[in-house]
Amino acid sequence: MHKSKFDAAYWDDRYKNQQTGWDIGYPSTPIVTFFNGIANKEASILIPGGGNAHEAQYLYEQGFKNVYLLDWAAGALRNFKTRMPDFPDFQLIQEDFFKFKSIQFDYIIEQTFFCAIDPALREDYIRHTHELLKNNGHLVGLLFAKEFEKEGPPFGGLKTQYEPMFSRHYNIKIMEDCYNSIEPRAGSELFILMEKK
Ligand SMILES: C[S@@+](CC[C@H](N)C(=O)[O-])C[C@H]1O[C@@H](n2cnc3c(N)ncnc32)[C@H](O)[C@@H]1O
Repeated sequence: MHKSKFDAAYWDDRYKNQQTGWDIGYPSTPIVTFFNGIANKEASILIPGGGNAHEAQYLYEQGFKNVYLLDWAAGALRNFKTRMPDFPDFQLIQEDFFKFKSIQFDYIIEQTFFCAIDPALREDYIRHTHELLKNNGHLVGLLFAKEFEKEGPPFGGLKTQYEPMFSRHYNIKIMEDCYNSIEPRAGSELFILMEKK
């Protein structure tokens, strides 16, 4: 397995030092809008690399009780538990996503996790999200639709690069310029909805 310098200690330090510029501080509008349209509150949902996970909080409070937050940074999970003391511990998973084996999920949410991993691991991300989804399960969320000038993270990308990678394992239902991005990300991200092949 490829070894990245952006390891758990790197990310945990970012939480310790409060260098979390990616954290928008509230649940992401496009993700909220999508799940507001999902009637099945029993759906199982994984948020990998979820960080402070305002979306996990929102979904849980909306009655999606089967939401799981995975992050390898202890600081992120600690922050979440402080805000959400009643959230079940077994649904808070401190582990390397790429080694995570578990039940399968109806949905996996993507928000600034794909852009945080070394691009050499993108194929692994696609394969592993696919393995963790039930048949007909969906990967849903946001991908950056731009390249960044500085070396990442975040690592950017373009629709023309993502499409061939994801389409090997997913039926791409939506991969479009996001119409309801939060203001600072307007025009720079794609909304994705993909069904496991
Ligand atoms: C840019 S942050 C995004 C956090 C969150 N999704 C958000 O939007 O606020 C990336 C997160 O992915 C986590 N992460 C990176 N690589 C990981 C891995 N291999 N396994 C688990 N978590 C990982 C980091 O600890 C960090 O919390």
